[in-house]
Amino acid sequence: MTEIRSILPLSVNGLCFEARGKRLVKEATFKIEAGSRTMVLGANGAGKSLLLRLCHGLLDPAQGTVSWNGDVSFSKAVRARQAMVFQRPVMLRRSALANIEYALKLQGVEKAERADRAYSVLKRVGLGRLADQPARVLSFGEQQRLAMARAWAIRPEVLFLDEPSASLDPSATHSIEESITAIAEEGATIIMTTHDLGQAKRLGTDVMFLHRGRILEQANASDFFAGPKNDLAQAFLRGDLLWWKRKAPYPGGGIEAQKI
Ligand SMILES: Nc1ncnc2c1ncn2[C@@H]1O[C@H](COP(=O)(O)OP(=O)(O)OP(=O)(O)O)[C@@H](O)[C@H]1O
Ligand SMILES: [Mg+2]
Repeated sequence: MTEIRSILPLSVNGLCFEARGKRLVKEATFKIEAGSRTMVLGANGAGKSLLLRLCHGLLDPAQGTVSWNGDVSFSKAVRARQAMVFQRPVMLRRSALANIEYALKLQGVEKAERADRAYSVLKRVGLGRLADQPARVLSFGEQQRLAMARAWAIRPEVLFLDEPSASLDPSATHSIEESITAIAEEGATIIMTTHDLGQAKRLGTDVMFLHRGRILEQANASDFFAGPKNDLAQAFLRGDLLWWKRKAPYPGGGIEAQKI
């Protein structure tokens, strides 16, 4: 049997994305190594979701390259080894279990194996009792967990998670974090966005801070949380509003940001 070659490292070089004549991702360059858990941080609209979608091959860059272990073509083999959980999950009009089984079918998993594998991940995200419910009647938080289970089931080498616990209560958030840790322990490399800084600290090995489409800081997580070098990243961690292109100090406080 031929050994399956890893799709990592992921190397992103000079990546730009434009829509409606506006540059929304600006010259992103970074490398992600196997086994890391990268937290992509930044304010609303910073470009986090776009960056994940570009890496996952869902958007075409205006410039630059995304290369998976040297492969820039985003081949079928590369696609098959990664999964993404979207900020707003999309479910098929069928049961929770069948949603996962369908994802397994697309991956070429044998029919006999699908139901068991689907049910075991559903249980692991705490949705075992909802296996036969139509996925679209599940609450938003349940759908988010189902989307996580669906991604987990295909045993990706790389898992993109776009705010996986944004609508979850504290106990469901805890369970999602346990799932992410378990998936990582099974060998997956995690690239995720979150607005929950505690979560980023708990889960991350690395941090990427985005502001207005540009990566302003990349660091290992402990260095970043001990004190980022970039002043906007410092302000972000303090919870200050990132004022845009201001000259005079704002009367009500806030930090002064330069146009980037
Ligand atoms: N197709 C598009 N056309 C025009 N603008 C877009 C398009 N897609 C995204 N944008 C804009 O690009 C910017 C970055 O969007 P993105 O969804 O990546 O932000 P984000 O960092 O994920 O924010 P959030 O934290 O709110 O999820 C936003 O200002 C958004 O309005
Ligand atoms: Mg987003």
